Amino acid sequence: MITAVIGGGGREHAIIKKLKENKEIEKIYAIPGNGGIAEDAHCVAISATDIEGVVDFCKDNGVEYAVVAPDDPLVMGMADELEKAGIPSFGPSKAAAIIEGSKVFSKNLMKKYGIPTAAYEVFSDPKEAYSYVETCPLPTVIKADGLALGKGVIIAETRDEARAAVKTVMEDRKFGKSGDEIVIEEFLTGPEVSVLSFTDGKTMCPMVSSMDHKRALDGDKGLNTGGMGTIAPNPYYTEDIAKECMEKIFLPTMDAMNKEGRTFKGCLYFGLMLTENGPKVIEYNCRFGDPETQVVLPLLKTDLFEIMKAVTEERLSEINIEWKDEAAACVIIASGGYPESYKKGYPIELPENREQIYVAGAELKDGVLVTSGGRVLGVTETAKELPEAIEKAYETARKVHFTDMHMRTDIGKRALMALSGK
Ligand code: AMP
Ligand code: GLY
Repeated sequence: MITAVIGGGGREHAIIKKLKENKEIEKIYAIPGNGGIAEDAHCVAISATDIEGVVDFCKDNGVEYAVVAPDDPLVMGMADELEKAGIPSFGPSKAAAIIEGSKVFSKNLMKKYGIPTAAYEVFSDPKEAYSYVETCPLPTVIKADGLALGKGVIIAETRDEARAAVKTVMEDRKFGKSGDEIVIEEFLTGPEVSVLSFTDGKTMCPMVSSMDHKRALDGDKGLNTGGMGTIAPNPYYTEDIAKECMEKIFLPTMDAMNKEGRTFKGCLYFGLMLTENGPKVIEYNCRFGDPETQVVLPLLKTDLFEIMKAVTEERLSEINIEWKDEAAACVIIASGGYPESYKKGYPIELPENREQIYVAGAELKDGVLVTSGGRVLGVTETAKELPEAIEKAYETARKVHFTDMHMRTDIGKRALMALSGK
């Protein structure tokens, strides 16, 4: 079986390492992959958003199954084009990927089908948005409608900040067309949980829950990033809450997408906040999370490729998905300065045992692995219990060296406090 994984970050590296456990798979192309992924797959220098280029490559090279991992090619319709070319794939159609591609769509969907989420208003006219933020409750949350590399959400504490956010998104057009419309929503509080779920539109199989750490610095300080580390399972996500989420959020979302004629097949990501009034949806993503995947997949016992094929063929109900009774922690090692400006090109020293080091922003230069992005690596370790997984992840992370490297030192701290009842 010849396969391709579209994308080139730590998430894709984790997917590829897991797929390699399947004996049927002879070859994996990573498009474009990266310098670290090159150890595990054949990297092909075509951009993940070059739909035609990727589909042509897959056709010309006998790819029999493709996994489309990132949001932008999915929202652009790569899964549809692969299907037209006769190549089965994992990932939703364009019609379904809109659940991440448009926040206005997803908020309206939740309202229409009674799925719990923050109260909100939609604006396409900046004048109306300015007028609304003069009187709305504070803090308030301003979100660009479209994809914005995870940076299109601004939490405004004051009216000045709210006005500035409307200006940035709608008038300065920091996120381009993504800011044609905005959602302004109620500020919610409570622990956040990420739940990725396999679904074929008929069955919903949530994976082990996880917790991301989005801010750049210890103590949840500094700027928002793509994610500085993760732990799984998330201790706030109890069995009772899981049951409630299944009844009030996961299954209703699957049914709603079916009723809209937008059946979702792939990995549906629920970003949840556990508020005093119950769990609410903060966001949907149409794909595996990054770096959630780096802690979730190492805990998966069942063969990932078998699950993916079952999703594509709409027979997920036949698969019994099993999880290790363990915990996992992933510490992201970033370039100093990320998420703002940082230098690239520093050689990376890795420990010998790097089975669970997932490479994100690195490339090979004359055979040497050097930094090439903001988030450079994710170091995952698993153990029977979470404290040990965290300790092991930091122990391995400390064996990585490159100039100006930065990592948070408190990944999992909040989860450990929750475990000890604080
Ligand atoms: P998103 O890109 O939608 O995941 O938003 C980024 C982060 O902003 C989330 O992980 C939350 O921490 C925060 N956030 C988004 N929406 C809200 C909200 N309505 N209330 C409070 N925090 C929010
Ligand atoms: N870790 C958040 C995301 O993948 O969007």
